[in-house]
Amino acid sequence: MKITKICCIGAGYVGGPTMAVIAQKCPDIQVTVVDLNEQRIADWNDPNPDNIPIYEPGLSEIVAEARGRNLFFSTDVDKAIDEAEMIFISVNTPTKTYGKGRGMAADLKYIELCARQIARVAKQNKIVVEKSTLPVRTAEAIKSILDNTGNGVQFQILSNPEFLAEGTAVADLLNPDRILIGGDVTVEGQEAINALVDVYANWVDKDKILTTNVWSSELSKLTANAFLAQRISSINAMSELCEKTGADVNEVARAIGMDSRIGPKFLKASVGFGGSCFQKDILNLVYIAKSYGLNEVADYWEQVIIMNDHQKRRFSNKIVQTLYNTVADKKIAFLGWAFKKDTNDTRESAAIYIADDLINEQAKISVYDPKVSRVKMQADLNYLETRSEEGNNDSLDTFNNAYEACKGAHAVAVLTEWDEFRTYDWQKIYDSMHKPAFIFDGRNILDSKHLESIGFVYNGIGS
Ligand code: UDX
Ligand code: ADP
Repeated sequence: MKITKICCIGAGYVGGPTMAVIAQKCPDIQVTVVDLNEQRIADWNDPNPDNIPIYEPGLSEIVAEARGRNLFFSTDVDKAIDEAEMIFISVNTPTKTYGKGRGMAADLKYIELCARQIARVAKQNKIVVEKSTLPVRTAEAIKSILDNTGNGVQFQILSNPEFLAEGTAVADLLNPDRILIGGDVTVEGQEAINALVDVYANWVDKDKILTTNVWSSELSKLTANAFLAQRISSINAMSELCEKTGADVNEVARAIGMDSRIGPKFLKASVGFGGSCFQKDILNLVYIAKSYGLNEVADYWEQVIIMNDHQKRRFSNKIVQTLYNTVADKKIAFLGWAFKKDTNDTRESAAIYIADDLINEQAKISVYDPKVSRVKMQADLNYLETRSEEGNNDSLDTFNNAYEACKGAHAVAVLTEWDEFRTYDWQKIYDSMHKPAFIFDGRNILDSKHLESIGFVYNGIGS
């Protein structure tokens, strides 16, 4: 079966970049990305590719090349479903905020709505690909909806989890470590798998394309994220011990990373991991384990989240303690709000929680982030529902320039590892601050020796 038309439901951080790269690499396939959110689609269609709604290095160039040729963004979901032989589901699957599994299980209402819409519209056989990260056995639920509410056409469900990391999405998509495709063992299932393999084989070596059963594929995605997050919580746990014992966590990370069994990546101690995936996926894993009565398995993984929350809280406590146990009415400048560099995504960013803690202590937060708007920062704080929107508004100042954000501050906190922070004129920042001028480097990216020679009181993580 040769695919000529693809539809992707959900034009977010996963669907947008993934489809842009598929369109670039497969000029013979027409790729239509649809979303209910009209503004988002309008932004993807902005004549200036630099204004697309997602910032990822290299993405606007790919969109500029493929858009209008074989890459389309539309709100006409029914039409795109009807025309496509293969439909990717890339809608959001946030943690449930209500009912059974609240705060843990993935909320699958958007997925179910998609399945029902596909069932209603489809008049020919379709391959439906799960791209969003989903709990194990979601494919079964999708299949049941499709088979029982559809127009009698055949559906094949594939699991094809996305492993891209934000900030490096384009590079990860162009040169993936592996592509994972799970499908049914039946003849039709294998045909569907092969159809998707052929799409990726346009630019990915076949030996990097793994095929498995659906459940292995779904669980592999949760497992990969759980292992990655666990490494960060492990090194962060060590960072606290380093601070007590006089060891330096960067040196420890380097020493253990040279063991080829451990490897050097994902060992950067930080203020805590954020992003839309790690916490959500681990909570999901914990929920699944509990639902099978596997309490030890659940507790084991939950500790990764507990450690991460502790690391964030520890950072805000340290700021308060170091500033003579009070930050009331003091200006604390935040450099960075995104959950990592090179993205405008702020979901679960540590900065939000640190700001919330410090506002509780009546601090004034002044933020500079090169890619995040004030509107988003306010929305992030309001989402926590800790205080009134006016309260958040009054406690938050935002700037388009780091020097302005730091002027008159008692302390600077680095929350995101944007490269530009390393190259600032730190003497100029020091001169404009209250003394003693404190720096809390939540990413260990600044040159502590240089800053101390200027006169800063420098606090890193894990040293
Ligand atoms: C992650 C997975 O890496 C990706 O494979 C999956 O598809 C989605 O989830 P993402 O959340 O986009 O990707 O970014 P990632 O680079 O994994 O970083 C997640 C968080 O961990 C960030 O807040 C980052 O700053 C933090 N981190 C990462 C550390 O604190 N230390 C590290 O050593 C690495
Ligand atoms: P992710 O990081 O998983 O890509 P996002 O929240 O960035 O998540 O994107 C998911 C997108 O899916 C949103 O733009 C949302 O509007 C869209 N969406 C959710 N449900 C539907 C649906 N039933 N039909 C079309 N689009 C949907």
